[in-house]
Amino acid sequence: MAVRDPDIRRGIWSAGWFARLVARPRFQAVASALPFGRGMAKRDGAEIFDILQGFVASQVLAALIEMDILRRLLGGPQTAESIGFSHNIPTDRMDQLLRAGAALGLLRLRRDGRYAVARKGAAILGVPGLENMIRHNREFYADMADPAALLRGEGETHLARFWPYVFGAGGEIESDVAERYSNLMAESQVLVASDTLRMLPLKGAGRVMDVGGGSGVFLSEVLRRDAQAEGLLFDLPQVMSSARARLAQAGLEARVTLHGGDFRTEPLPGGADTISLIRVLYDHDDATVTHLLSRVFDALPPGGSLVVSEPMSGGAAPDRAGDVYFAFYTMAMGTGRVRSAERIGEMCRAAGFEGVRIPRAPRPYITSALSCVRPG
Ligand SMILES: C[S@@+](CC[C@H](N)C(=O)[O-])C[C@H]1O[C@@H](n2cnc3c(N)ncnc32)[C@H](O)[C@@H]1O
Repeated sequence: MAVRDPDIRRGIWSAGWFARLVARPRFQAVASALPFGRGMAKRDGAEIFDILQGFVASQVLAALIEMDILRRLLGGPQTAESIGFSHNIPTDRMDQLLRAGAALGLLRLRRDGRYAVARKGAAILGVPGLENMIRHNREFYADMADPAALLRGEGETHLARFWPYVFGAGGEIESDVAERYSNLMAESQVLVASDTLRMLPLKGAGRVMDVGGGSGVFLSEVLRRDAQAEGLLFDLPQVMSSARARLAQAGLEARVTLHGGDFRTEPLPGGADTISLIRVLYDHDDATVTHLLSRVFDALPPGGSLVVSEPMSGGAAPDRAGDVYFAFYTMAMGTGRVRSAERIGEMCRAAGFEGVRIPRAPRPYITSALSCVRPG
């Protein structure tokens, strides 16, 4: 009989002997012959296969995006032959790609043999920045091709080369590189801002300083929702021109003060009632985060709040998004790491903050959040 109590299950598993038993081919053969074992073996088998094929599935998605097939099919169903012809790919191979897309639920194979975009495929096109995110994963996957080398920290990673200014290199950053990065971040920020402000509505937050605020998308969302709020954007000087342009486009330049600077080497400007760190901490090592949190503490008045939002580790309960994708992504970036909300809360307390609050994240693969207060 399957053991339902999680504590008993954990106990059995942590004893180690059960894992060694399950790892025996003989056990697998016997289990799949028994009624209760058959279900378990089948479920485990399917889930293991799903993990195993994950990389191939991602590459199928990458191919559909790189050849712009999802967007093309929005215009109406097409045959493998016509799509293959446009990309100089033989019909039978293009058919295999499209069938794979259909198997993943991104496309639909119609009775007439043509392919249409499915709801999940269309949704990818509707998520701001997702296509570009998928495209730039090419660099990340190149680093994941040799995970042991990545774990050992051997050599420069593709992702670090793709984002050369990241952070701590301390070197000069070309402004076009900063702009490319800021654009990618800005596109995906829309979802991050929406989830963050759902978890922690900053209504009545007064003057909000977004540190590492990129081109100001998060601040724009805060100001859009609260007509009384004012903004202060702090980021590297190279990012200021794209921030200025984006805020002007949103008609918000009069409500935001821009401050170009480096939080490693200079104090943060004062005057904010609330400071936000959105997808900033996970780019940095513990020493930089400790230093930054103490600068944030110093910049806030007593009673001022700090909001942190970024993808986080599941901590004691490892989580697919945080502990698989983002953990390795930040490792490939080379400078940071994902942390659990509890760990970030601990670091905030060590900097002097109190009242750490960790709301439930609706979509942890987009972001998680916490807030805390400088004691009065
Ligand atoms: C991952 S991006 C996040 C941008 C934005 N908060 C968002 O979520 O879209 C990290 C931001 O931190 C900024 N940053 C990195 N190091 C910095 C430093 N030493 N001083 C100031 N800003 C920094 C980068 O320029 C970048 O805009």
